[in-house]
Amino acid sequence: MNGMFSYTRRTLLRTASIAGLLSICLPRASLAQFSKLKIGLMLPYTGTFAPLGVAISNGFRLALSEQDGNLGGREIEIVSIDDESDPAKAADRANQLVSRDKVDVIVGTVHSGVQMGIIKIARDTGVLNIIPNAGVEAATGVLCSGNVFRASFSNGQPAFPLGKIVADRGLKNVVTLAWKYGAGEESVAGFKDSFLKAGGKILKELWIPFPNVEFQSLLTEIASIKPQAVYVFFAGGGAAKFLKDWQAAGLKGKIPLFSTFLTDGVLEAVGDAAEGIETALHYGDGLDTPRNRAFQLAYAKAFKLQPDVYAVQGYDSGLLLGIGLRAVKGDLKQRKALIAALENAEIDSPRGKWRMSRAHNPIQDIYLRKVIGRENKVISVAAKGLDYPSALTCKLLPL
Ligand code: PHB
Repeated sequence: MNGMFSYTRRTLLRTASIAGLLSICLPRASLAQFSKLKIGLMLPYTGTFAPLGVAISNGFRLALSEQDGNLGGREIEIVSIDDESDPAKAADRANQLVSRDKVDVIVGTVHSGVQMGIIKIARDTGVLNIIPNAGVEAATGVLCSGNVFRASFSNGQPAFPLGKIVADRGLKNVVTLAWKYGAGEESVAGFKDSFLKAGGKILKELWIPFPNVEFQSLLTEIASIKPQAVYVFFAGGGAAKFLKDWQAAGLKGKIPLFSTFLTDGVLEAVGDAAEGIETALHYGDGLDTPRNRAFQLAYAKAFKLQPDVYAVQGYDSGLLLGIGLRAVKGDLKQRKALIAALENAEIDSPRGKWRMSRAHNPIQDIYLRKVIGRENKVISVAAKGLDYPSALTCKLLPL
C-alpha cells in the first residue's frame, strides 16, 4: 500500500493521541521565515515488521513533541509511506518522497534490502537520510555518504560480542539459523567473527527465506544435530512465531538459544516461551537508569504501550534531527553546518549516551540481556563503546 497516509488502522489509533500533542506544540514554535519542514517516514506498516514501523514512528513523534518549540523554528509536516519491507519497490518509493512529496529528510527504514533502495536515492538526490533501524553494513561502510546517518546499529554490531561470550562458556559447537537476506547474513557473520576467534565451531548454517516462518523442518534438523547452542536472527512477528515453535518443539531448556533482537517487542505476545533467553543488544527495556525509566514513562503515557528497542531508535532519530535543525536554525541549506552538527552530536538516549563514528554509525555499548518476567533485564555490558565494523570500510568520507 502506498500514499501519504498509508497507516494501518492500529497505527492510526496509536498515533492519534500524540498527533494532537504535535499539532498543539509545533506550530506555535514556527517562524514565518521557512516553509514547513517535510519529513518522509518510510517504514513497514504491514507484514512481519509492521510492529517495528509503528514503534519507530511513535518514538520519533515523541522525540519531536519533547523538543517543543526548539526544532530550529520549523513547523513539521510528516508524510508516511508503507514500504512493506519490499526491496523491489524501495527505490521508487523513496524517489516518490523526494520528487513528488518534496521531503527534506527521509527517516527510514527497518529492512536492510529496502534501505539499499533508500541509499541509492539519498546518494542520487542528496536528500538527508536518517536510518532508524536497518543495519545493512554498506550504508555506513562501502556506500557511506555525507547525507546518510544511522541512529540504530550495524547488523554485525550487537552479535559480535555475543560470539565470544558463547564460546567462553564452553559452548563451542553451534548451529546458526537466520532469515536469508542481508540482515540475517550480516548478523550471523558478526556472531561468527568473535566466536571462531575464540575457538568456536559452526556445525551448520541454516537459512530460511525472509519473511517465511515455517520453522518445523529446521527445528527437527537442529534436534538431530544436537549442537551445544544455537544462534538465530529473527525479529518482529517472525521472532514471536520462532519463540513459540522453539518451545513447542521441546528445545527450550534443552539447547541454549542466543540472539540479538529475538526477544524485543514480543514479550507480552509469547509469554513463557521467552523466559530465560539471553540476547545481546544496544538497548534493554530493563535498563535501570533514570533516563530510560523517564523515557518509558513518557512513551507509555503517550501510547499506552511499553517501548522496545525500535521505539528507542525512532526516538533517537528525532533527537538527532533536532540537534541538526537547531544548529542551523532550521535552514537546511546550511548543509556543511548541518552535517557537522549531526557528525558531532552526542545523543542522550534511553540506551545510554552514544556518538557517531566517522562512517555515521553509532559508537555504543552492547548489553547482555536475559528475559526475566516481561523484561529484557540487563545483566552486563558485553562491549563498551563498540564501533563495528571498523569505520575504515567507509572510504568516501574524510578520515
Ligand atoms: C534489517 O533488515 O536490517 C533488520 C530488521 C529487523 C531487525 C534488525 C535488522 O530487528
